Amino acid sequence: MQVNLRESWWIRDVEIPTRLVLAPMAGVSVQAFRRQGRRYGAGLVCSEMVSCAGLEHRNERTLGYLRVGADEHPLAIQIFGAEPAVMAEAARMVEAAGADLVDVNFGCPVRKVTKTGAGATLLDDPDRACRIVEAMAEAVIVPVSVKMRRGLENGSRTCLDVGPRLVEAGASTLTLHPRSAKQMYTGEADHALTAELVSLVDVPVVASGDITSRARAQAVLATTGAAAVMVGRGAQGNPWTLREIVDGDSAEPTREEVAAELILFIRETVRELGQRRASGFLKKFYGWYLGRGRFPRPFKQELVQLESADEVVRRLFAAAPGAAEIVERLEAELPDPADEILLDQMPISIYGGG
Ligand SMILES: Cc1cc2nc3c(=O)[nH]c(=O)nc-3n(C[C@H](O)[C@H](O)[C@H](O)COP(=O)(O)O)c2cc1C
Repeated sequence: MQVNLRESWWIRDVEIPTRLVLAPMAGVSVQAFRRQGRRYGAGLVCSEMVSCAGLEHRNERTLGYLRVGADEHPLAIQIFGAEPAVMAEAARMVEAAGADLVDVNFGCPVRKVTKTGAGATLLDDPDRACRIVEAMAEAVIVPVSVKMRRGLENGSRTCLDVGPRLVEAGASTLTLHPRSAKQMYTGEADHALTAELVSLVDVPVVASGDITSRARAQAVLATTGAAAVMVGRGAQGNPWTLREIVDGDSAEPTREEVAAELILFIRETVRELGQRRASGFLKKFYGWYLGRGRFPRPFKQELVQLESADEVVRRLFAAAPGAAEIVERLEAELPDPADEILLDQMPISIYGGG
């Protein structure tokens, strides 16, 4: 059965124009990544996980994650934490920032997060997980979504018990990455479990894990009954894979296109994170973009050695002069930054003032 990925679906009253969701990835899902994902066919994009404690304490860097561009909608902002009341307040802030969905992370396997009782550990404390979702759903008008793993231990089927309870508690959609927390990213995502979850709940389910081609996306949608597929690692430095999955357009990008997308990504990320933070952050992207035989390996090594992002941009233009025209066109299409909801324009009440 051929599934049309250019078909919209709904999370309550939020229309998602394609059946492809760009995954939340810490250290990756900056605004430039999400905007690019939209341009290449993602119907829904997500922020990386944002600490509810950071929001509670008005940590400046954490608040920066709440920046929403006019061209990002529909957008989910993901939060993590373990205290229902704090999560509810964080959900309110996310809603006020302009997100279309508030997503909660019940999947992060990283110790720094799990030791605080957040992320995947909540799958082993379903009462608390339900209280968190309930408190969030009561706090906001926009839908609350949940992203989770199969469970903590290998072979676990916990998600099948917890999932329906989370829906009852107020989750309007569930995303399942059917690996255990212990597996991290090893082994394979077991989408037979996704199919089981779909049969147990009456909200849309999103299938996450190992979707890297149109053939795989079609197969997972057809065999699980999921409403959409989520793509994470496959899209790192490779938005063209999103186009292939949604439209079946498997044309390889030219060097100029690759350089242009990377240049735009660098410029936007420098604007978002500042020159100093962006320089380190961006290094991993050079290999992701320039690998796959697109540029010679020494070129990537040269870029990683450069001090500033500006120098990297100059080297890219020199290596692919034709990129200039593409960058100019892409930048002309970006929305006016004045259309962004800026935090200092938020009503004071969302900071808990008064
Ligand atoms: C670098 C990295 C960071 C991630 N960060 C998050 C995160 O912040 N929140 C989340 O729910 N999942 C996170 N994930 C999990 C992905 O969203 C996704 O579920 C997982 O990578 C499986 O999909 P894939 O095979 O398409 O990559 C992360 C994954 C990676 C590789």
